[in-house]
Amino acid sequence: MLILGIETTCDETACAVVKDGKHILSNVIHSQHEHIKYGGVVPEIASRSHVEKIYDIAKEAIKKANVSINDLDKIAVAYGPGLSGSISVGISFAEGLALSLSKEIVYINHVKAHLYAPFISNDNIKYPCLGILLSGAHSSIVIIHNVNKYELLGEAIDDAVGEAFDKVARMLSLPYPGGPEVEKQASKGRYVYKFTKCVASEGPFYFSNSGLKTQVMYLVKNENKKGDLTGEFIRDVACSFQNTIFKDIENKVKKAMKLTKIKQVVFGGGVTNSMSFREIMSKIHGIEAFYPGKNLSMDNGAMIAALAFHVNEKQEKLYRVKIRMPWN
Ligand code: KG4
Ligand code: ZN
Repeated sequence: MLILGIETTCDETACAVVKDGKHILSNVIHSQHEHIKYGGVVPEIASRSHVEKIYDIAKEAIKKANVSINDLDKIAVAYGPGLSGSISVGISFAEGLALSLSKEIVYINHVKAHLYAPFISNDNIKYPCLGILLSGAHSSIVIIHNVNKYELLGEAIDDAVGEAFDKVARMLSLPYPGGPEVEKQASKGRYVYKFTKCVASEGPFYFSNSGLKTQVMYLVKNENKKGDLTGEFIRDVACSFQNTIFKDIENKVKKAMKLTKIKQVVFGGGVTNSMSFREIMSKIHGIEAFYPGKNLSMDNGAMIAALAFHVNEKQEKLYRVKIRMPWN
């Protein structure tokens, strides 16, 4: 079965053709660089850019897959969570295409697709497993019982992990998206600032990052009073921030493994692209960690098409843009 996956929930216009939920025939991703000068995604610019790009990206994905448009069996589209204008572009395009070709349409939850990405290239993940989703706008820890059933253990009550990276990068005058830049600086820095990690009263698996972000903000403000930020200061703050936030995730993963007695942990979302993150996770005793393959960590259409092959469609069919979505 051939599925075209369409992803436009944020600032990537992405389309892919996947065969039988496993074989990625094409995976075309266009990242919008228009946002860099604003230091973050501007929703109106994002949706306009999707409108301009979606046709060409879909065409390229079909061409690269070396299939004809009529060979497609289904059209899958991410219907949330994300930016409403951006999602509307993807849905409208997908629905128009499905209608004109008389093909079935499948609506896919974007964050569930992030957690499905590691399954594409790993046949030995067994249910139930733990899912750790760390993207620009979401941080969640779930038990994945199967592709249609998730049990939420905890999520972000304020800034998501990726969002905290982006905001700290901005404070340090590093370009957007901040995560990869902070990681680069951190690799040459020292863990000299001992920030306190805030504990969320909701429970041990809930994330609270705004307090950490505020500590970085005051430290940078004070340093700014002395003059321009030095390269050494930027590297040390990046290293200290990254260590603090990853240590918190490490503790949460350990606790979740202990509570559930599950050793297989599936990671998804842009933050899990970080090599420093993967190194820390790999040291957790007994963990069997699974990550998305190449070009499958950041937003992409392949994870949408792959999950669409497996989901219970009735559950996913809601026919409208969803800015926020519960796990069940
Ligand atoms: O999953 P994703 O591509 O898009 C969303 O669905 O949000 O994640 C993007 C996020 C951004 O916040 C970006 O700064 C972060 O992932 N990110 C990283 C790294 N690479 C991307 N965060 C930390 N370290 C990285 N190496
Ligand atoms: Zn994403």
